[in-house]
Amino acid sequence: MSRRIALIPAAGHGSRFGSATPKQYLLLNGRPLLAHTLDVLCGCAGIDDVAVVISPGDEWFDGFAWPGRVQVLRVGGASRAESVANGLAALAADEDDWVLVHDAARCCLSPDALQRLLDDVGDDAIGGILAQPVADTVKQGKVGRIAATVPRDGLWLAQTPQMFRAGLLAEALQDAANPAITDEASAIELLGHAPRLVVGEAQNFKVTWPGDLALAGAILAARKGLQA
Ligand code: CTP
Ligand code: MG
Repeated sequence: MSRRIALIPAAGHGSRFGSATPKQYLLLNGRPLLAHTLDVLCGCAGIDDVAVVISPGDEWFDGFAWPGRVQVLRVGGASRAESVANGLAALAADEDDWVLVHDAARCCLSPDALQRLLDDVGDDAIGGILAQPVADTVKQGKVGRIAATVPRDGLWLAQTPQMFRAGLLAEALQDAANPAITDEASAIELLGHAPRLVVGEAQNFKVTWPGDLALAGAILAARKGLQA
């Protein structure tokens, strides 16, 4: 029986966020952002193992307490794709094991959306991702002026987790330095496959800009309040 392994790239510097401490280690409701992300994956009965990829020079991880069953891989690379490829190599997973790659910065993933991904991908031949249909009108433009309006019909915003078999993902990420690989699905698509799209949720956004932190904190606090 193949395992399901969550692999969380957390080796970024958060240049858009702009804080001295990488955003994954900023405190959110009293705990590092990454701890909230790990809680969801560690709390899912359908996930067998949880591994986090941090930078070899990481100065923050050891200063916090983390959920018990988290494996730490100090093999982060220059790009997200390289961090994932290095982490995958360090996992020594079986070819048929599922790997769920999830951004450390998406700390508001809900247990329901995670379960929906597991259920909908099931034993799909390729795998799939959480994604959100584009809700806003999409503009194309440069230097502050609109060049065109792009029909949003059929457009989706890719989220994570992105769930693929370890063997196929390793093959897809062989050229992890390829700038066209911006997520796992794009690497799989370059092999000619069509991953499944599973409807995600707006709350599963990626903390990217400074203002995102307060929103994430409010979502997590509200969820705890509802569960209490
Ligand atoms: N990531 C990583 N290794 C890298 C770059 C990014 O593991 N070399 C991780 C980040 O830690 C994050 C996830 O990939 O959890 C998504 O990346 P992003 O939100 O872009 O984070 P950063 O790259 O840190 O931010 P920025 O692009 O603003 O610098
Ligand atoms: Mg980045």
